[in-house]
Amino acid sequence: GQQPTPTTTVTDAVKDSAFLRACRREPVPHTPVWFMRQAGRSLPEYLKVREGIPMLESCMRPELVTEITLQPVRRHNVDAAIYFSDIVVPLKAIGIDLDIKPGVGPVVEQPIRSRADLARLRDLTPEDVSYVTEAMGMLTRELGATPLIGFAGAPFTLASYLVEGGPSRNHEHTKALMYGDPQLWADLLDRLADITAAFLKVQIEAGASAVQLFDSWVGALSPADYRRSVMPASQKVFEAVSGYGVPRIHFGVGTGELLGLLGEAGADVVGVDWRVPLDEAARRVGPGKALQGNLDPAVLFSTQDAVEAKTDEVLAAAQGLDGHIFNLGHGVLPTTDPDALTRLVEYVHTRTAR
Ligand code: CP3
Repeated sequence: GQQPTPTTTVTDAVKDSAFLRACRREPVPHTPVWFMRQAGRSLPEYLKVREGIPMLESCMRPELVTEITLQPVRRHNVDAAIYFSDIVVPLKAIGIDLDIKPGVGPVVEQPIRSRADLARLRDLTPEDVSYVTEAMGMLTRELGATPLIGFAGAPFTLASYLVEGGPSRNHEHTKALMYGDPQLWADLLDRLADITAAFLKVQIEAGASAVQLFDSWVGALSPADYRRSVMPASQKVFEAVSGYGVPRIHFGVGTGELLGLLGEAGADVVGVDWRVPLDEAARRVGPGKALQGNLDPAVLFSTQDAVEAKTDEVLAAAQGLDGHIFNLGHGVLPTTDPDALTRLVEYVHTRTAR
């Protein structure tokens, strides 16, 4: 059949932003900055509007999502907004019985561990997440020339929550399934790839000007296991959204040994945690991709002098890079002083002004 040409509504002003230029490895007026988990967490204005509203419910209220997404943009002058949601939202939307417990994370009532359980993972349709389309429409109008990053959890990280039934340090049930029943594992990841791709398409068609795939916990795997058991599913996700021309960012924690493969999976930008300096990360990723990162989020608890010195280290390692987006090496920690983030944005902008 005739495939419609994918279209987006990204404006020329957004396309010309420092963030999107850096994603495309074009010259920039200053190094763009945003922070993973910049919305929510540390901001008092966030805690105020969230009062009494459970996390997952807040993700389904377009006005609230719009307000929370805009809060860090107003306060910190970051170069991009990230849509306020959570990686488990599409799973909730297809009827998986899960909740986000404060201070704990996503908890799944009945973990997915058998072939029969796979039937609970039905396809995601745009109607299942109509609130996302609505909120993104409101957001892109409010944001003007500021890009809006959409996101999703990658198949491995989603599978970990589904199979474990909640957060896990060692991923023992997940790995038991991956090694013990490779066919069921492959089918599970393929289902999750389709759901994730559908969720990202909704966001791009609603106005997201970049997307980030969070494979937060995939650093638990060796390169050989990643390539064999995870990469095909993540590749399927990136391939599904390749036609839009919207930059695709791929991030995981503790992925020093996987950086090349994270790029190979189909990313335009590879996110790097603080354990590998960006010049070394560039060698591991290879040419043709921008890098995002990578200040240790814990550094923000130190003195301003120390923050500036550690930021200088990141910027020095990024000197020769072909495309750099400044970020933390993982999400903003919940008790971070918001003013430290504001000062950091200002510092990076000033130091890198061309
Ligand atoms: O600016 C933003 O990044 C906000 C949007 C956002 C949330 N979760 C909101 C949230 C994003 C991008 C996420 C991604 C996410 N969620 C990831 C990938 C990023 C990462 O940190 O590696 C993961 C692994 C999750 C799963 C998740 N959700 C965890 C582990 C937790 C509990 C930890 C915590 O901070 O309490 C959540 C809950 C969650 N997601 C909250 C928020 C604001 C806290 C909500 C609450 O406790 O009421």
